[in-house]
Order: sequence, then structure tokens, then C-alpha cells
Amino acid sequence: MAKDIIMSGMRPTGKLHLGNYFGALENWVKLQNEYNSFHAIVDWHALTTAYEDTSDLQQNIMDVALDWLSAGLDPDKCTIYVQSEVKEISELFLLLSMITPLSWLERCPTYKDQLKQLEGKNIANYGFLGYPCLMATDILVFKAGYVPVGEDQIPHLELSREIARRFNHIYGDTFPEPEALLTEAKVLPGLDGRKMSKSYENAIYLSDTPEEIQKKVGTMITDPQRIRKDDPGDPGVCSAYALHKVFTKLTELEDTAEKCRGGAIGCVACKRNLAKNLIDFLEPIRAKREELVARPDTVRDILSEGARKAREAAARTLEEARKKMNLNPRSE
Ligand code: AMP
Ligand code: TRP
Repeated sequence: MAKDIIMSGMRPTGKLHLGNYFGALENWVKLQNEYNSFHAIVDWHALTTAYEDTSDLQQNIMDVALDWLSAGLDPDKCTIYVQSEVKEISELFLLLSMITPLSWLERCPTYKDQLKQLEGKNIANYGFLGYPCLMATDILVFKAGYVPVGEDQIPHLELSREIARRFNHIYGDTFPEPEALLTEAKVLPGLDGRKMSKSYENAIYLSDTPEEIQKKVGTMITDPQRIRKDDPGDPGVCSAYALHKVFTKLTELEDTAEKCRGGAIGCVACKRNLAKNLIDFLEPIRAKREELVARPDTVRDILSEGARKAREAAARTLEEARKKMNLNPRSE
């Protein structure tokens, strides 16, 4: 039996951090064994807000590809490609834009939210308004049934279903209605205890060196009430402990908490242990990345081959849509 299809993407906005790994990538790596998976580096989506300065675009695409491959996405198991290399997506996007009511796009909560958040930046553009229609196209062009995303993407998934339904209603059954495959809410805290995010400058990147990790962890704020290293501490208010909970084995974790409460371990030593565990965790990813960085042509080849496979699948759907819309002069 054919495997179910999943599709997901990320905008190329720079290197990925541990939050991206636990919030998305780790799950994709598991899912590639059970599903026919398509994963896109969505550069057109990046342009919807960052159209003015595109000087880093190619480097950002390369960084995302390197991070994906290092983290375990396997081109023999899934299809990895750059969105703009699959031009069939742009034609289907145009067709779907014909049937997408403006009001659906205008009332999309992410649209209103971003307009407010990025005030001052001129993003009141046609392309940005169409973001969810382009995302729907990404998914529908492969007839994907499932989309592994975070909760923030739910409104976009809802719109994708509405667009599929509308197309099916007007032109006949063509697209399945895609469902979100939610990653269980695991928000990874950053160096300052807030959600790990590039924009908070509190992130540890998959590509950070051991030295960078040691330095970053060394600057973390621990229990502010703890002045001397033998003062009793409270792991519950400590950002380092929040990360220990994710990266430290249970026995060592319990031991750490006990020693902290009893003032038997200082914050410097405790953070040194955390850094070590982070470095150990990232070691295989870092080694793989280093190997790939030295072979950029191999990475380019993987993306080209991915685009070729994606185009083949996308072309089939596009043909079907064109026929249904009577755009194909050769269809009977
Ligand atoms: P972004 O580039 O912020 O849109 O994130 C890309 C993906 O990583 C999305 O699926 C997010 O849900 C996920 N993500 C980003 N930061 C975190 C975090 N700190 N914890 C968990 N997931 C995250
Ligand atoms: N909007 C998604 C995000 O910001 C990225 C994205 C674009 C996407 N196209 C997609 C995700 C298709 C899943 C499926 O994270």
C-alpha cells in the first residue's frame, strides 16, 4: 500500500537552533520512516517579508539544508528541496489564487498579527497577503494528507483545507483536505529561560562549536538569590536547570537538584556539566555538519535531486488541476 504523504517546510532565515530541533525537526526525522515525506526550504515565503535584502538568501538556504541533513533527514527516505526550484508550485499557486477569496486572507490571524508586529516595515504587499495561499499550494501540490507543524500554523492549515474544499466544489474532487500533525507542545527554553528564539538572542544553534556552547552556558543566569556557591539554591527558578531537564540523564538530574538545594554544588560547576551534556548531545550533529560543509556540491546535488522528484509529483497534480479547469487543450 502506498505510504501516506506528509509535507512541511521552513523559511530560510538562518541557522536552526535547538528549539527548531525539538519543535519540528526531531519529529520529521522520525516521520520519514513511516510516511512519504516532502520537506521544502520555502524561499518564496521568506521573500514575503524579507524581499528588500536578499543578499543572505543563498547562504540561509544552504544553512537550513546543512542543519536538516545533519539532524538526520535522509534524502534516501524523504524529498528535500528548495521551493523556488519547483516552478509547478508557482503555476498551481496562480490557479488557486483565482478561487481564494480576499476576505479569507484578510481575516487570517497570522496576517493581522504580523502586520502589527512588523510595523514600520512595508509588508502590505500582494505577496504577503497571499502567504497562506502559497502555503496551501505547497501542501496540495503533493496531495499531502498530513502536515507536521507547530500550533502557530493551525490557521494556515484551516485555510488550506478551505481552499481544497472550494476547488473540489467548483471543479470536482481533486485535493484531499490536509490535517495538522501537531508536535506535542514542547517549548524549549533558551539561555534566559524565555522560549528559545533567534530574535531573543538566547539560542544555542545546532552548528555551535563546543567552545561557543561553553561560553553561552557560562553566561546563563541561575537562581538570583544564590550569592555564594554553598548557599542553598532553587532549581525551579534556574534557567540552567530548565535545560538540564531536557539534556541531563535522570539520575544525574536528580543528583544535581539535590546538590543545588543543599548548596553542595556551585553554579559554575553545574553549568559546566550542562555544557558538557549539550556538547555530547550535539556531537553527532556537529560531526555530520562538518563533513557536509566540506562538500557543498553534495548538498547542492541532494537539493537538485529533491527538486527533480518534487517536480515530478507536482507536475502530475498540476496537470490534473489544469484539466479540471479546462486549461489543457489536449484533454478530452
Ligand atoms: P520559526 O523559524 O520560529 O518559525 O520556527 C520553525 C519551527 O521550529 C516551528 O515549527 C516552531 O514551532 C519550532 N520552534 C521554534 N522555536 C521553538 C522552541 N523554542 N521550542 C519548540 N519549538 C520551536
Ligand atoms: N508557514 C510555515 C512557518 O512559518 C512555513 C511553511 C511554508 C510551511 N509552507 C509550508 C509549513 C507548508 C508546512 C507546510 O513555519
